[in-house]
Amino acid sequence: MPTPSSAPRGVVAPGRLFVDQHGSVAQLHGVGVQHLDGLFYAWGEDKAHGQTFAGVACYSSPDLATWTFRGHALAVDPAVPDLAPGRVIERPKVLRHPDGRHVMFLHVDSPDYADARVGWAVADRPEGPYTYLRSERPLGHASRDIGVFADADGTGYLLSEDRENGLHVYRLTPDYLGVEEIVSTTLTPPSDHPAGPHGYESPAMIEHDGRYYLFGSELTGWATNDNKVAWAPSPAGPWSDWADVAPPGSATYDSQTSTVVTVRGTEATTHVYVGDRWDPDDLAHSAPVWLPVRVADGAATIEWLDAWTIDPVTGLVADAEVTA
Ligand code: GAL
Repeated sequence: MPTPSSAPRGVVAPGRLFVDQHGSVAQLHGVGVQHLDGLFYAWGEDKAHGQTFAGVACYSSPDLATWTFRGHALAVDPAVPDLAPGRVIERPKVLRHPDGRHVMFLHVDSPDYADARVGWAVADRPEGPYTYLRSERPLGHASRDIGVFADADGTGYLLSEDRENGLHVYRLTPDYLGVEEIVSTTLTPPSDHPAGPHGYESPAMIEHDGRYYLFGSELTGWATNDNKVAWAPSPAGPWSDWADVAPPGSATYDSQTSTVVTVRGTEATTHVYVGDRWDPDDLAHSAPVWLPVRVADGAATIEWLDAWTIDPVTGLVADAEVTA
């Protein structure tokens, strides 16, 4: 894949790279995003070492488009087996606990992806540094791609891919530092996977007008596919059939879901699909594909925009002009 060009700072241009305040390509891969204290914080996989762990990079932005590198929230640590050089750490996601602590969730793995565990780290400040706690297979289940969701009442959920059994939604313990129980599990249609259970991966959840939307992709590694979305009256389901997020055959505009960010503005609540266009030969230059989500009556879809901005106060999206 040719190296994508960079977007001008202050504009989201799907398929083009974000650069930080130093002009370096922002390592916003497999990213988790939260709006905290008037800023968007993003925690991404630093792909400087390719597939293996080079740190969780933290960025902040007032507008989802102008990113400032805040350092590594979690660094490589030869003294901690899960964080040692050569390990795999993916899809960092953070929730701020109601008590003010920041809890980071990680896909922790071996280079052959056989470990399939979830890791936890905590910090007082969003940008860290985070203190690594431990990893586990939640309730004994394999766990690779993860997402997180906090409901309005503070209940936290871990979304986790377990291809033997399906995509699980786990309710977290009240302190977010463990899982309590599986509240729902979804599978891909049996016709798609006659060999047995198989759920979606790269999970993300949002709430809109009392409905919960769960996004995910098929399990095709770094290759992209038509990502899907289902809805339910609660994180416990029952989940609707899965529908396409983007025009079928577009492979979700050649991207895979990383998270979906909710911007609750004074004029609109806007959800932003945050996806990765992985380049397996140059993961550090994998391009972000971020697009506003249209949510209505159980459907959540994205449409292509060349370039756009969002007003973080009103929540309104506007087209932007960028030169090639
Ligand atoms: C994908 C997954 C990515 C990464 C990749 C490695 O299925 O969504 O996060 O793990 O596989 O091949």
